[in-house]
Amino acid sequence: MARFIDELKRTHHCAELRAADVGEEIILFGWVASYRDFGGCVFIDLRDREGITQIVFDPDTRDHGDLPRAAHELARALRTEWVIGVRGRVASRGTNVNPRLATGEIEIRGIELAVFNKADTPPFLIEDEIDTGEEKRLEYRYLDLRRTPLQRSLRVRHRIHQETRRYFDELGFLELETPVMVKYTPGGARNFLVPSRMNAGKFFALAESPQLFKQLYMVAGFDRYFQIVKCFRDEDLRLDRQPEFTQIDVEMSFVNQDDVFRVMEGLVFRVWREVLGVDLREKYPTGRFPQLPFEESMGKYGNDKPDLRFDLHHTDLTDVIIEHEGGGIPFLADIAQRFRSGELRRDLPAQIVKALRIPHAHAQKVSRTEVDKLEDYVKGMGARGLARAKVDKGGAWTQSPLAKMSEAMRQAINDRTGAAEGDLLFFQFGKQSTVQTVMANLRVHLAKRLGLIPQSGHGGQFNFLWVVNPPLFEYDEDRKTWAAAHHAFTRPHDACVALLDTDPGKVLCHRYDLVLNGFEIGGGSIRLHDPEVQARVFRALGIADDDARQKFGFLLDALRYGAPPHGGIAIGMDRLAMLLSGAESLRDVIPFPKTQKGTDLMTDAPSRAAPEQLEELRIRVVEPSP
Ligand code: AMO
Repeated sequence: MARFIDELKRTHHCAELRAADVGEEIILFGWVASYRDFGGCVFIDLRDREGITQIVFDPDTRDHGDLPRAAHELARALRTEWVIGVRGRVASRGTNVNPRLATGEIEIRGIELAVFNKADTPPFLIEDEIDTGEEKRLEYRYLDLRRTPLQRSLRVRHRIHQETRRYFDELGFLELETPVMVKYTPGGARNFLVPSRMNAGKFFALAESPQLFKQLYMVAGFDRYFQIVKCFRDEDLRLDRQPEFTQIDVEMSFVNQDDVFRVMEGLVFRVWREVLGVDLREKYPTGRFPQLPFEESMGKYGNDKPDLRFDLHHTDLTDVIIEHEGGGIPFLADIAQRFRSGELRRDLPAQIVKALRIPHAHAQKVSRTEVDKLEDYVKGMGARGLARAKVDKGGAWTQSPLAKMSEAMRQAINDRTGAAEGDLLFFQFGKQSTVQTVMANLRVHLAKRLGLIPQSGHGGQFNFLWVVNPPLFEYDEDRKTWAAAHHAFTRPHDACVALLDTDPGKVLCHRYDLVLNGFEIGGGSIRLHDPEVQARVFRALGIADDDARQKFGFLLDALRYGAPPHGGIAIGMDRLAMLLSGAESLRDVIPFPKTQKGTDLMTDAPSRAAPEQLEELRIRVVEPSP
């Protein structure tokens, strides 16, 4: 029988012992974080997931016979990251207290030592701050995960999970599972496919979310469902997107939009209080988050997830340009003319003109060369350039390619944007989607540059809002038809139902996003449980009955068997953890994430399948052309 582990059980963790424990005999297990051999004594910093304790092996320790001398001899061979067990006595460090360690008042005088395992020299240091490239860290993720920042962020995740479960359980929600291998349904994100061996030539999809199944739980009468669930989407990856991610998924029966909001606000308040120790009531005394209509969000901020920690905003100038026929600036005159001739339509604004005003107090912090650099920044997003103007005395414009604009139009733009002397104005003209993206990103880019928000992280500020009442359909420029903006089972506003057949672009719906500091952390909707209206929505989308049946047959059937009114939401758990802990990327809060290219560097996945496997699945691989 081994003496350590079998006989000598661990008594404490490595962040536990204090001055009050001096004289106690204890047993610690952990990793050698650092090692110093001073000839006479060997000093070890012993690390486990809780912290660090200093151990001293001193050959001259008198009690316990020869044991300390043997331990010292063994300790001299130790190296970093070896896994050891130590029996020893807690001693005071006297005046040598280390204030940076929770255990800094004490040290352990080693009596017995066991080496459980040696370790190769790690490819990077296991320290809080390292400058090792991320690729190397991902390749040795299990070592990276030993570092305190990652240990801390995974513990935050654990806490979020536990609080979430407690919260929903208290409110009577049932945690129910849904299948991961599902039928492929079109629309939404691209799915990963899983070949079926038993049904050769056929495929499952990995669920992009439990959406349809949670609705079926409502039809089945379960009333309140939640699940902490893995979802899979084959999308282009960004800092806030992973192909495999986790949702806090929720669905409720007999609720309206406000009921869903209240439940989720309660969850967020709870998580912030219990996990972060932050009382959101100081900022939101009513316990409610503000709501912003989708259209206003697009108009003022260029997207539906505005960061409202600072108040720079856009102004739409399209109608000013049309009214003033472009104010003598040729390309604006051209846009105005195309609107007037009906080639561009006001209800489908393929082209727009927007301005972003930087007030004097901020504008003076940006040099002319920096403004020039902004031009390159926006070109990287597909803009042709960045027109600008510095507002001078009496509203005149200087440093501007638009200086020749008619006085009347300049005045109208100054009035509309509220521009005054010393302000800077930036303009974008062109395709609506490009203008919106460029201006939305420029707004955030400048806010960081001006120090209105930190480069990354929350800076102690948490700005939540609901973006509400978006249109049910969006116009597909390429196919020249209407498409469901979210999914085809979102309930339109009752007042808009009549417009479904006549003016689909004006139909607003009960869809909502929860936004925090410029990130969409959750989204959901009240569902369309009424088969009559459902049929009209499909008609507006140009989906024939047969087609609808083929795509959504089982849900359409289920909705006919007494579906209660219901709605729900899903919160991106990874994004929540990232924003709450101030991390820069989802990869900092996901234990084993994928790279930007969707690969796992540690296991070298995805990998090729063996010819026999492919044979069995009746799949032939077409090699990409060189
Ligand atoms: P939605 O598609 O808006 O809604 O997703 C909900 C939330 O999940 C997070 N999220 C992601 N996080 C990391 N990586 C990704 N690739 C990724 N994609 C989404 C976001 C997002 O707000 N079934 C609906 C919910 C509903 O209607 O109830 C759904 O999945 O934070």
